[in-house]
Amino acid sequence: MAIEWSAEAGEFHLRNDLISYVVRVLENDWLGHVYFGSALAEGKSYGHLIPQEFFGFSNRLGEPVPLEYPSGGSGDYRIPAVSIELSDGSGVLDLRYKSHRIVQGKPATPGLPSTYVEVGGEAETLEVILADDIARLQVQLLYTIYRDRPVIVRSARIINSGSVSVIIRGAMSASLDLPDSDWQLISLSGEWARECHVERLALRPGRQSVSSTRGASGAQHNPFVVLARPETTEASGEAIGLGLAYSGNFVAEAEVEPFGTARLRTGINPDGFSWVLEPDAEFATPEAILAYSAAGLGELSDAYHRLFRERMVRGSWRDRARPVVINNWEATYFDFDEPKLLAIATAAKEMGIELFVLDDGWFGRRNDDTTSLGDWQVNLAKLPDGLDSLARKVEALGMRFGIWIEPEMVSRSSDLFAEHPDWTIGIPSRPRTEGRTQYVLDMSRPEVVDHLFEVLSKVLGSAPISYVKWDMNRTLTEPFSPTLPAWRQGEFLHRHILGVYKLYDRLTKAFPGILFESCASGGGRFDPGMLAFAPQGWASDDTDAIERIKIQWGTSMAYPINSISAHVSAVPNHQVGRITPLATRAAVAYFGVFGYELDPTAMSAEERAAITDQVAFYKQWRELFQRGRFLRLRSPFEGDRDEAAWMTVAEDGRSAIAAHYQILSRPNPGPKRLRLRGLDGTASYRVSIWPSVGDSDGVPIGPAILGGDELMAAGIVLESSRESAGGGDFRSRLYVLEAL
Ligand code: GLA
Repeated sequence: MAIEWSAEAGEFHLRNDLISYVVRVLENDWLGHVYFGSALAEGKSYGHLIPQEFFGFSNRLGEPVPLEYPSGGSGDYRIPAVSIELSDGSGVLDLRYKSHRIVQGKPATPGLPSTYVEVGGEAETLEVILADDIARLQVQLLYTIYRDRPVIVRSARIINSGSVSVIIRGAMSASLDLPDSDWQLISLSGEWARECHVERLALRPGRQSVSSTRGASGAQHNPFVVLARPETTEASGEAIGLGLAYSGNFVAEAEVEPFGTARLRTGINPDGFSWVLEPDAEFATPEAILAYSAAGLGELSDAYHRLFRERMVRGSWRDRARPVVINNWEATYFDFDEPKLLAIATAAKEMGIELFVLDDGWFGRRNDDTTSLGDWQVNLAKLPDGLDSLARKVEALGMRFGIWIEPEMVSRSSDLFAEHPDWTIGIPSRPRTEGRTQYVLDMSRPEVVDHLFEVLSKVLGSAPISYVKWDMNRTLTEPFSPTLPAWRQGEFLHRHILGVYKLYDRLTKAFPGILFESCASGGGRFDPGMLAFAPQGWASDDTDAIERIKIQWGTSMAYPINSISAHVSAVPNHQVGRITPLATRAAVAYFGVFGYELDPTAMSAEERAAITDQVAFYKQWRELFQRGRFLRLRSPFEGDRDEAAWMTVAEDGRSAIAAHYQILSRPNPGPKRLRLRGLDGTASYRVSIWPSVGDSDGVPIGPAILGGDELMAAGIVLESSRESAGGGDFRSRLYVLEAL
């Protein structure tokens, strides 16, 4: 890996064995974009790819000059990377190359989540300074390339080197100019309980974007998009990924202009954002994470999985096996007491479950969702012996204990709101919109963050707590903070999310042994930024196995499997009323951080025995499920949508587990095959078929000995096809492969 600078050509070549990213100082000192894709030979110039004869470079009047950090007002009419309002009210910026520096490793972005290095030699960073001398403004562009990842991490810092304030109207984390627009834009879109559904549409002339204005990244669109060629599949073809390490309002946008080139950008959503930059002050954007694959979406996802798992997640839980949990939410909702919880925990322990999570309702006077958020003291009416006593009793069973919190919120009916009504986000002259009968605390105020740190530290220190589910259950309205002057209100939403990060940072550092799981009514804030604090996230409130296939498929486009929390719940399912076999519920949840969210005391002895088998099966293969290479095989979003399949393969290819889900039963089906990927083509595998781990008939069929070459080229004959026709809907099969 290296960042080459050729002074003669004025060219930077960021390169490793997988990718090249080439940037060039054009003749008039604009910073031009030359190339991003498969690795190119070093020691050569590629400047001819953007010929001066064609583009001119004397002015940009409508020409699609490929630029690294474009701005508007002087002939570039495409979506800008940066928009500034200068003190005279004008908004034109003309950024020219001034200097650069190449440093070992990667500088941190203070206050914001970021990828990192552990040893200097694993990455190099290019810092380029651009400046507009008339505006007296500098932009520092940062590019990090890792030694062995097909990834470029970008961010920008805007520096006011003048003597008067300017207003930032928009500052993207990255902008990428591509020479053609023969791409399809893939986004992860949805709503509560149907997050991360894969949408794929061809780029067309004009702008197309996904974004959030809700104050959180949102369940509606994820801050992660992919450009894929029309022919790109999971296993072949070009794809460019663009993720944003940010949990607030974002935009990810593509524009096709009349010459057929495409510009891609991502960053804080300029809609509703502005930032007053005083003289000498600096504004840092969040990080954008670009990745490239010439071998399909599977390889692109793998690059993100590894990067996020190894260099975004931090702390003691990064590399550790994640426990199998049981969460009481769908088992009891708010209706519990200590004996009920202990009965669930005792039954769970007997089935091999490792950690008991006490969800919402343990604090204040909280017996429904209308009260007590903000009052983080134990509800003695429900738990008269306190949290500590309950936690110790759970520990005495041989399990660990975790709790649910929702720090950023306050109920109208709460002591905190009575004491500090002004800590709530809102505009004094307007009524506040209520959501789930709660308000959002103003996290831009340091005293609010300090208060939450203190009370939550007290709770977390008061009992043996090993896990925290950090929820966030409503979007923001009436964005405004009375602590900011009128001309700074555009900064509020960003300052708010910086406050959220601050609290996360302080609590995770103060309690380094606790495993944090993020949640926002399910996947409402499941983004790359959150992973810097919480190694895993609750992907959706929808626990139905069939819905979860789609949600986990989409989530896996960007996020590692050991970040995707997935639970088996009761039937009929509480979100969709569907009845699926217990085995299928587990067969989906295995491909995540596995757990249960049901009342085992209400289940039959047979079902409890089945769960015991499932937990043992997951523990046996936990490393493979949580940290194997995840490959998507058959999409629930394509074809007849009545089946799906995916698999996980060990790093060394010696073991793998594939799952096939027959969503709807087919009448009189033909023999079907499923081609696997990622195996060792020279190895022979013992293949055991688990019709249904944990069902009464959960005995492996086989095993057969089959070659890796055959399994990948010809495929596995789906044992399910004919038999399952009579077996009903929602059937699953697991294929366990072990190399001989
Ligand atoms: C949110 C979460 C759920 C549960 C409830 C509790 O909806 O996503 O998992 O914790 O809050 O109120």
